[in-house]
Amino acid sequence: MQYSKKVLEHFTRPHNQGVIRNASGVGMVGNPVCGDLMKIYIKVKKDRKRGEVISKIGFETLGCASAIATSSMITDLAKDKTLEEAMKITRQDVADALEGLPPIKMHCSNLADDALHEAIKDYQNKHK
Ligand code: FES
Repeated sequence: MQYSKKVLEHFTRPHNQGVIRNASGVGMVGNPVCGDLMKIYIKVKKDRKRGEVISKIGFETLGCASAIATSSMITDLAKDKTLEEAMKITRQDVADALEGLPPIKMHCSNLADDALHEAIKDYQNKHK
């Protein structure tokens, strides 16, 4: 299987890996077929001009190389974004930022996308 240089970079040296204590929101998703699990933690700060911004983000992933690389990349993409901007990040954005994923690994980027969105929803539910 051919992985891009970016995927290998993020797999071997993931960014933002680890738990965030007292996170503002947590999202956890799994893929029942392969059994991979992903958890994303966000810390949200209120900015007077921009609104609610993801000031800190972390992940824990039990999964394949693509799952780890997509977790790492989505945390880079979502950091310092407003919740609205982060909600618009798609699995294609993650795959593009990783210079592509092998077609049979595209579902791994779904996990990252879903986990981020779940973390944002968790925050929003707590702050209704
Ligand atoms: Fe399951 Fe990659 S094979 S997320």
